[in-house]
Amino acid sequence: MHSEPNVVTRRGDVAMLADVRAGLVDREPGAQRELPPKYFYDHHGSRLFEAITRLPEYYLTRTERLLLSTRMPKWMAVLRPGALVELGAGNADKTRTILDAMRAARADVVYVPVDVSAAFLDETAESLRREYPDLTVEPVVADFATGLRLPRSLPRPILYAFLGSTIGNLEDAEATELLTRLRRGMAPADRLLLGADLVKDVAVIEAAYNDANGVTAEFNRNMLRVLNHELGANFDSTAFAHRAFFSDRAGRIEMHLVAIEDQTVTIPGVGRLTVPAGDSIRTEISNKYTPRRLTRILAAAGLRAVTWETDDAGGYALLLAAPSV
Ligand code: AVJ
Repeated sequence: MHSEPNVVTRRGDVAMLADVRAGLVDREPGAQRELPPKYFYDHHGSRLFEAITRLPEYYLTRTERLLLSTRMPKWMAVLRPGALVELGAGNADKTRTILDAMRAARADVVYVPVDVSAAFLDETAESLRREYPDLTVEPVVADFATGLRLPRSLPRPILYAFLGSTIGNLEDAEATELLTRLRRGMAPADRLLLGADLVKDVAVIEAAYNDANGVTAEFNRNMLRVLNHELGANFDSTAFAHRAFFSDRAGRIEMHLVAIEDQTVTIPGVGRLTVPAGDSIRTEISNKYTPRRLTRILAAAGLRAVTWETDDAGGYALLLAAPSV
């Protein structure tokens, strides 16, 4: 399973070709090569991400899970949402924690997982229906980054969930844009449940993206294999080194694939490209927020945090936000 908004779908995907061309070929001389992190998540990549969430170094998932399990019963008893709309329809045990708390507060709960992968959604819907025979599950196939059309007549209020610090993959302006679109569809009583990783000891952050077993390195290199499978490219993924570091200036982890020697690659439909030794392709940004920065993004989107919790170490935030007007 994956908590990403996008999944690579089929060979020759037009949007994928455009993304690859824009990020690797049509660029100013000297500009950083980059690819969107959504291309990590083919089947193998999704499994690798699941393995990452279980790594001792990767504190994000277990910290968020702990916050959910301690806070949801109390928050849901007060809010009593009728529907859970989960963006990027993630990890089943997070969903269960939220649904259990919602169902303890009222009986007519509807679950709306949103994902671009129909196959993935069907799987999620089926297993949840099996587990909760009386739960209404209405999956929506959509790229919520560009638009979200919900089933009519959901029981109100609606709880939107955007978890796992997936928001961190976006530049602040992009995050603001996404949250603004979401807020436009929110009624005053609706809420957004947001999970976001916070700035902390750099060594702790960097270890989470440089695990001792090299799972994250494999996950990173998998993007090149995805390009090979989907586009018929001929990247040698073993010729690129994993590099992940915290940028203090930008307040984010950056993940790169560094060419160990000059690499010349052919991508059908895009062209030939050379990555000189030592140059890199940036595959992901993962923002680590200060509370002030997160508050500013929310405010710019017309949202305000009404409840805010962090773990004891103050390293991860789980918050409920409401439309501010
Ligand atoms: C799924 C985007 C939250 O940024 O921590 C994990 C992805 N990348 N290890 C993150 C990821 C490398 C993850 N998100």
